[in-house]
Amino acid sequence: MSGQPHIVIDADLGRDTISRHIYGHFSEHLGRCIYGGFYVGDTSRIPNRRGIRNDVVTALKDLKIPNLRWPGGCFADTYHWKDGVGPKARRPTLVNTWWGGVTEDNSFGTHDFLDMCELLGAEPYLAGNVGSGTVQELTEWVQYVNFGGESTMSKWRKENGRDKPWKVRFWGVGNEAWGCGGNMKPEWYANIYRQYATFMTGWTAGGMYRIASGANSDDYHWTEVLMRDIPHHMLEGVALHHYSVINWSKKGSAAAFSEQEYFTTMQRAFRMEELVRKHSTIMDKYDPAKKVALVVDEWGGWYDTEPGTNPSFLYQQNTMRDAMIAGLTLNIFNNHCDRVRMANLAQTVNVLQAVILTEGEKMLLTPTYHVMEMYNVHQDALMLPLHVRTSDYIFGNEHLPSVSASASRDKNGATHISLVNIDAQKTQEISVELRGGKYSDVTGRILSSERLQDHNTFDSPGKVKPAVFNKATLKENTLAVKIPPFSVVVLTLR
Ligand code: AHR
Repeated sequence: MSGQPHIVIDADLGRDTISRHIYGHFSEHLGRCIYGGFYVGDTSRIPNRRGIRNDVVTALKDLKIPNLRWPGGCFADTYHWKDGVGPKARRPTLVNTWWGGVTEDNSFGTHDFLDMCELLGAEPYLAGNVGSGTVQELTEWVQYVNFGGESTMSKWRKENGRDKPWKVRFWGVGNEAWGCGGNMKPEWYANIYRQYATFMTGWTAGGMYRIASGANSDDYHWTEVLMRDIPHHMLEGVALHHYSVINWSKKGSAAAFSEQEYFTTMQRAFRMEELVRKHSTIMDKYDPAKKVALVVDEWGGWYDTEPGTNPSFLYQQNTMRDAMIAGLTLNIFNNHCDRVRMANLAQTVNVLQAVILTEGEKMLLTPTYHVMEMYNVHQDALMLPLHVRTSDYIFGNEHLPSVSASASRDKNGATHISLVNIDAQKTQEISVELRGGKYSDVTGRILSSERLQDHNTFDSPGKVKPAVFNKATLKENTLAVKIPPFSVVVLTLR
């Protein structure tokens, strides 16, 4: 579409809340996410508390991360939690068969993770082992972490130093059951889910939030079978995984890419809109009251690993392209918050579209971190419906909408609008009409940079960071906003 982008926001028509859990993260035993990323051990010279890096905790608290998924991913269906509790010196080692075959010493286990979530102020989301575990093993994990009464497992927890239960609410019943979680068919998995979910219940005061292993991108049949075959009283969420990857056999460099590669990545990212809509339509058929949430518990950009790093560790740089993926995807989730009530960016530290990268004692915040920090104003705010008439970002014979947006009103009455211009070349002059609202002041922040490939490095960690934005003017409830190519802007109106 040509012409100037125009957005209409119904400032007085909000109905659904944007759950803060849409802004969740994911930490797997993969490469340097846990070991070296979050956890360095209490004898490290890197400042830490019980082995957890102080700098990482501070950065994630500033981000206001609402929940953290662990221990996988594919790793979760190989993980036996009992090996990771008790005195560290006596824990058996494990071989991480999914991610490089490295031997881990199990020094980061259940207590370490749950205590870390308390430090972060984040709710834990535990992914249970269904693929190679047993119903008993997962049931006992629930009992170990959540049971307040007297039982063998709660006694063992106390002996290991934790008196009170953690009251973990979010539980994944396996991961990618269609693939690394057991190569199951949906009908088979639906039955297995029913069995596991039955015995996981009864140990948790305040109820559980059980999340079924969901579809791979556009596998709509998977969602259909789960919604049809699992009784909804034992199902709080159905997962979905979608990565923005150019081509699984030729992903391309994370930081040295062409505009063609950028455009293709954005096409993949835009796919999230269609996926959320179609999976939601199937869910609506079986659950018109929208009781069951769509939980996008893995999303993000996936490229070739950085040259010279272990290819199994999935370590990649993070540029303004990733900022565009994050801004666009979070706008999609916000606008579909009636069904998408939880999501987890893959992954928090040193893996895939990370918000934090570390190297020894050094740490940096990526452009994706900054987008998530700017957007955290939407957490638990009332979503305001909007209509976007956008111009097109044209590349060769193909085009994509150049502008995406979402809006919300927070508990203090401030309205926040997040705008993304993915066009690699063109500035957008956007008019935003705020119907039914009364505003007298607008402020803003912007994340932009000279080149799409720009990123932060350990030598230059502040190259890409948010700045004050003053190219928005308000006149009688209409905003005129000028935003540069490949940039993210968040405006606050009072
Ligand atoms: O995030 C990396 C991997 O991607 C996860 O372990 C798996 O669930 C997915 O395929």
